[in-house]
Amino acid sequence: MAKTVPSALKGRDKVSSKTKISIVGLGYVGLPLAVTLAKHFDVIGFDVNTERVKELRQGYDRTFEIDTPALRASSMRFTTDIADTKDADIHIITVPTPVDPDNKPDLEPLKGACSAVGPVLKEGAIVVVESTVYPGVTEDICGPILEATSGMTSGEGFFLGYSPERINPGDKVHTVDKIIKVVSGQTEEVTDILADIYGAATSGGTFRARNIKTAEAAKVIENAQRDINIAFVNEATMIFQKLGLSAYDVLETAGTKWNFLNFTPGLVGGHCIGIDPFYLAHRANEAGHFADLILTGRRINDSMGKFIADCIHAKLSGKSRILVLGLTFKENVPDLRNTKVKDIISVLRELGHQVDVHDPLADKDEAKQFLDIDLIENLADLSEYDAIVGAVAHSVYRDLSPAAIEGMIKDGGLVADIKGIWRDTDFSNGIKRWQL
Ligand SMILES: NC(=O)c1ccc[n+]([C@@H]2O[C@H](COP(=O)([O-])OP(=O)(O)OC[C@H]3O[C@@H](n4cnc5c(N)ncnc54)[C@H](O)[C@@H]3O)[C@@H](O)[C@H]2O)c1
Repeated sequence: MAKTVPSALKGRDKVSSKTKISIVGLGYVGLPLAVTLAKHFDVIGFDVNTERVKELRQGYDRTFEIDTPALRASSMRFTTDIADTKDADIHIITVPTPVDPDNKPDLEPLKGACSAVGPVLKEGAIVVVESTVYPGVTEDICGPILEATSGMTSGEGFFLGYSPERINPGDKVHTVDKIIKVVSGQTEEVTDILADIYGAATSGGTFRARNIKTAEAAKVIENAQRDINIAFVNEATMIFQKLGLSAYDVLETAGTKWNFLNFTPGLVGGHCIGIDPFYLAHRANEAGHFADLILTGRRINDSMGKFIADCIHAKLSGKSRILVLGLTFKENVPDLRNTKVKDIISVLRELGHQVDVHDPLADKDEAKQFLDIDLIENLADLSEYDAIVGAVAHSVYRDLSPAAIEGMIKDGGLVADIKGIWRDTDFSNGIKRWQL
């Protein structure tokens, strides 16, 4: 049978404010996308997490990506019943794509989302995957599940697309409504429709990838490239520690060359840069190629927490009271998933130190439930620590005055500045400083 244009959206002029879009998975990616698309289209958001949907209905976004006035002003609707999305012309899937304990892709949430969407898929609809995947997942894994659960044939009854998400949580500059959106579809017509949909929502324009697998591959190498570049800087940092040099000083100096790449050392956590390279390595392995450089980069970056803890330990004399400032995986976000600060904390504890942890952005209950860490709530009450570790560059820590830091630490104590946030701060009271 000849491939047809999706019937519900036939002809580019049919993309209109009446176009119905369902967003499946309302997390860091799905919610901002849904709110942005809802300015132009009829949007419904579906999530399996009933608590999340309840909060969103009340105007509260626990990821802090969308503030309450913007959420309340949005025309989008929320549901935990997939049947409510049955009229959607386009389903956009934005569910997590983590790795399992062996660092193998865990596609269960994505498969679950496809199994949920299939039965409610109307004829001619498009299913777009936005989750980060390795090349082939949309067509070779999602497609067959959607076929089996919808009873329709991919490319005839319904159509596939892939459009990678590129936003950085906490980044208020490169937001979903401003960045270039890569689009790809199973047919030219599908790609055109997606370019119209996403083009309406972003001022950054769209880029039509040659095909779906190219778009999937492009996303996964964007993050693998960052991981490898950071691994190089982290390895250089390990060398410079042995030579008694600060990596930040060296990088500042080297950065004066026009083509020196701007990466800083540190922990690589979260669910993108520290995860996506494993997706590419997995697909490489299936194809008979061992992804040596990619996996070496992962190994170096995953070893940074222990490296930093060992450096701090070497600067301390005996068992110490240590205050770690920051627990989330990056600055100014509440996201604790795959945070590598926990590696520093556990190694310091294993070495016999007493470690307290503070993070005003992290959820206290999540820290306890997922990391078994009790967060200290009020910095003002703290004093007499042997060492303070600046682990995450939250603005609230950047803004601490020297006196505030000195007030928390014993005379002659240690400030371990992992993110280089206090490089230009002068401490008194004989306070020593260690930085990468
Ligand atoms: N967070 C980022 O910065 C970022 C950036 C670019 C790409 N990505 C990619 O986007 C995808 C989503 O990431 P995220 O950070 O938004 O994840 P997230 O965990 O914040 O949100 C995912 C949401 O999906 C829901 N969910 C899980 N399974 C579901 C299902 N079967 N049906 C419906 N909802 C389901 C969860 O309840 C959750 O609310 C991942 O593939 C990630 O790699 C993330």
